[in-house]
Amino acid sequence: MNVLLLGSGGREHALAWKLAQSPDIGQFYAMPGNPGIASVAEPVEGVPLSAHQAIVAWCLAHAIDLVVVGPEAPLVAGLVDRLTEAGIAAFGPSAAAARLEGSKLFTKELCRENGIPTAAFARFSDAPSAAAYVRSAGAPIVVKADGLMAGKGVVVALNVGEAIEAVEQVFASGGQEVLIEEFMEGEEASLFCLVDGETVVAFGSAQDHKRAFDGDLGPNTGGMGAYSPAPILTPALEEQAIREIIIPTARAMVALGAPYRGILYAGLMLTEAGPKLVEYNCRFGDPECQVLMPRLSCDLLPILDATARGRLADTHVSWSADAALTVVYASRGYPGAHQTGSEIGGLDAADALDGVLVFHAGTKKAGAKVVSNGGRVLNVTGVGATLQEARDRAYAAAAEIRWPEGFYRQDIGWRALR
Ligand code: AMP
Ligand code: GLY
Repeated sequence: MNVLLLGSGGREHALAWKLAQSPDIGQFYAMPGNPGIASVAEPVEGVPLSAHQAIVAWCLAHAIDLVVVGPEAPLVAGLVDRLTEAGIAAFGPSAAAARLEGSKLFTKELCRENGIPTAAFARFSDAPSAAAYVRSAGAPIVVKADGLMAGKGVVVALNVGEAIEAVEQVFASGGQEVLIEEFMEGEEASLFCLVDGETVVAFGSAQDHKRAFDGDLGPNTGGMGAYSPAPILTPALEEQAIREIIIPTARAMVALGAPYRGILYAGLMLTEAGPKLVEYNCRFGDPECQVLMPRLSCDLLPILDATARGRLADTHVSWSADAALTVVYASRGYPGAHQTGSEIGGLDAADALDGVLVFHAGTKKAGAKVVSNGGRVLNVTGVGATLQEARDRAYAAAAEIRWPEGFYRQDIGWRALR
């Protein structure tokens, strides 16, 4: 099978690393890829992921059998619809199904209509009514903007003043509507499921670390580290989440005429009343994918292909008993302003360690050197029989890397290991 992978981050490097091991893979391309991905897939540069017709034409010219879409933006914008119309199989949901990530309001209404456990919510199209509601409901309370906000559209307000400020911010920055949610208390975990219409196959769990600094302090980021499995998501809780949240969602999407095909990533809050949905994403998590792929003990390619072709029910998925943990090595200053272009040394020494995989997230080549090219730059991943072993391996590898312009959290995995 000739495969095209779309994206350029650590998530895509992990997918590429796994796909490249498939005995069924033929020509393997990555658009645009990165220097890590380039060791297993041929990079294709110069076609932006927003140029849907150009991507379709490129796929037809290169006899592509399967497109695997990494990031959410092309999914929400309908790339899979364009590929499907052209007869090209693609892993990832249609635009109508990707609304589960693209519109928080769509998802909240779907939950309400189908009795899916999630935070109670109210929606407002002007600031004064939203502010009045916030005053009557009290704090803590959660304020959200609609649409793809790259993780920046959510404020968990600890007092009423902060919540009202957040409401005003949503409208001041051009928002048409604001979502006010009940504050849910509990620990968060991510559950991944392959979904093909009404067929749901559990595809691993993970926990992320969203804050920039040790002790879960500092600003929110795209994720500073992750581990899998998430011990807090016990088999019983996972089964409950699939039964009460994922399956009803899959059925509701079919009933709406927008069947979901792809990976559905549920952010869950494990409350005293059971698992509740925080949000959906319509693609693999980043860096969660980097801890799922090393644990998958079967071939990934037939699974993605079967999902894309509506045959998920016929596939078999198996996992190793290992744990995996990834540490995100980021540019100093991230998630705020940061420099790029600094040289990174020691990558080969780190990658050569036992049970270690170094995924590239934001790098580029400058001559023979690898230099930083983004906020989150490397995902240093350890795999081991226990989470402690995976963690020790990841940190030993991070210590081999020579990159003074970077930083990483020292406490990835603390919740599971405490
Ligand atoms: P989201 O972008 O919807 O995942 O929200 C980002 C983060 O805000 C989540 O990972 C949670 O930590 C927090 N959050 C969002 N909604 C709620 C809620 N209703 N109650 C408590 N925390 C929330
Ligand atoms: N790590 C969070 C995300 O991928 O959205």
